[in-house]
Amino acid sequence: MPVYSISLDELNKTLPRNAEQLRSWCAALEAGGILYFPETPVPIPAGDLEFLLGQHQTGSKLHKNIAYKPVRDQLSGVDARTSPAAVVEQLHGIMRRYSASVTGFLAEFLAPYHEQWLLDYASYRPIEEEGRDLPVRRRNDLLHTDAFPTRPTHGRRILRFFHNIHPTRTRNWVVGEPFPRVVTAFAPRTLAIPRPDSPVAHAAKQFAQVTGLAALVPRWKRTAYDEFMMQLHNAMKEDELFQQSCLKEYVQFPAGSSWMVYTETVPHAVLAGQYALEQTFLVDPAAMVTQESAPVAILEKMAGARLA
Ligand code: SIN
Ligand code: FE
Repeated sequence: MPVYSISLDELNKTLPRNAEQLRSWCAALEAGGILYFPETPVPIPAGDLEFLLGQHQTGSKLHKNIAYKPVRDQLSGVDARTSPAAVVEQLHGIMRRYSASVTGFLAEFLAPYHEQWLLDYASYRPIEEEGRDLPVRRRNDLLHTDAFPTRPTHGRRILRFFHNIHPTRTRNWVVGEPFPRVVTAFAPRTLAIPRPDSPVAHAAKQFAQVTGLAALVPRWKRTAYDEFMMQLHNAMKEDELFQQSCLKEYVQFPAGSSWMVYTETVPHAVLAGQYALEQTFLVDPAAMVTQESAPVAILEKMAGARLA
């Protein structure tokens, strides 16, 4: 999986006007590349950084990943019983600033998309990734492509921007083969080739959406596209032979670096590392520089029908 390294110098020469270079970076991302910034283009204010790194050491337990929902300006994952209100408030402000600064940077850097995205959650990942004890489907140290069980994207692409804020250590990833190869490894042997919903299933899902029943049964919110992507995520994590034998590339992201990648198509896993910030965008596949690269386009071609 190619990793394209972009220095701040190169970035400064490109932004805001070199439209051709920006399009080629978008195309590289869309083709499954990782855009890597050895020095993050979205620096965190020193006080914010100190606060984030200090949380573990001072014992106010940030025991889970912390999520920030920018659209509702809401913070979750902080245990209000063990974290004083002032700590929660400060964290909230830091996540709000982080989310806004990544969004500001990408509005320029991803100019070819004309902001055809939904701003999704941001997260702070203060937990050591090595040796986490999680159920198989929630493990992030197994290669997988991303799919959200309760928040299907309906064909939108999942773009994630990361920042390793650990003062010294790398964040260690593994990446796998390109999406079309992974799909052919699983479909149709393990997973059925995606098929559009029957008219009855379609009507039932619409009914569930309108009446709110879909909130109770996550799969009722899923299009045929989402259902396939969810099953692929699970099948990859649950297939021990695949995990052992598939082609892998090891990538280490140094302290202070950032990277971005379409995680719904690039198989990835995190093996070790602590303290990362991340912001997710759900990008409209119609905004792609190379529309045929979108997974919805790839799967619809396989299915010979609309899936989302
Ligand atoms: C993941 O998206 O699977 C985890 C990536 C990370 O936290 O580095
Ligand atoms: Fe993931």
